Amino acid sequence: MPRAVVTGAGRGLGAAIARRLAADGFDVVRLDRTPGAAGDDVTACDVSDRSQVDAVASRVGEIDLLVNNAGIWRFAALEDVEPTDFAEVLAVNLGGTFHCTQAFGRGMLDAGRGCIVNVVSIAAAAANPSVGAYGASKAGVLALTRQTALEWGPRGVRANAVGPGLVPTPGTAQVYDDPRVRTVRAGAVPMRRLGTDDDVAGVVSFLASPDAAYVNGQVLYVDGGLSQALMTLLPRPADVPGPHEP
Ligand SMILES: NC(=O)c1ccc[n+]([C@@H]2O[C@H](COP(=O)([O-])OP(=O)(O)OC[C@H]3O[C@@H](n4cnc5c(N)ncnc54)[C@H](O)[C@@H]3O)[C@@H](O)[C@H]2O)c1
Repeated sequence: MPRAVVTGAGRGLGAAIARRLAADGFDVVRLDRTPGAAGDDVTACDVSDRSQVDAVASRVGEIDLLVNNAGIWRFAALEDVEPTDFAEVLAVNLGGTFHCTQAFGRGMLDAGRGCIVNVVSIAAAAANPSVGAYGASKAGVLALTRQTALEWGPRGVRANAVGPGLVPTPGTAQVYDDPRVRTVRAGAVPMRRLGTDDDVAGVVSFLASPDAAYVNGQVLYVDGGLSQALMTLLPRPADVPGPHEP
């Protein structure tokens, strides 16, 4: 049975990804910083702490698939971002991905096969107001994904990224608990709905599958087309007040 590790699997997208991979036939090891709420089958591991990651990796042993999903964000205007918050977001999102990639990737390199899927965000490519280090951290993970693909592809290890758009989860509840916010935000998405955790889990499943055997170093945005909606911001000439005729 193939084995997978999913980080941040205690709730939200990570929990859905772990469920989907288990349904796909993986033996899934679920890691989370705060395993208590999610039950006994979650192993405590703070991915920003290298010693914890190394200890868990040596206990878990060889795996076929690593999903770097654990992630955090802190809201503040750029001028108000606390340096400690900036550092923590980078330490978890980028540092955690690096630690797990190295710690679990060594076994993949020894085996000459393996697959890594990193969970980024549309914020990796588009600035998002008031999320401080988040976009920088996810852009960093995207760069690390390409780096991994380049260096480890020749040794049988693929690395790709999934970029969710707007998905209600426990972590985004403070935004999406308000039905008015859900409606307005869904209206901005070309598919006119928010994403679900299963939308994201399905794409992780695809990237981990033999169907994606020749996909390496890519990012697949799972956002209903939101990242392609830039031109909808432009008013059409007819919507601009005043004369338009030359
Ligand atoms: N929900 C969205 O709209 C959305 C959009 C784009 C990207 N993402 C990304 O998807 C991932 C999951 O987000 P979510 O919405 O499910 O969040 P969430 O807060 O609901 O769940 C995140 C999980 O990660 C765990 N975690 C946090 N820091 C950790 C650490 N240092 N070590 C181990 N586990 C840790 C948390 O305990 C939690 O269980 C994140 O990387 C996030 O940036 C989410």
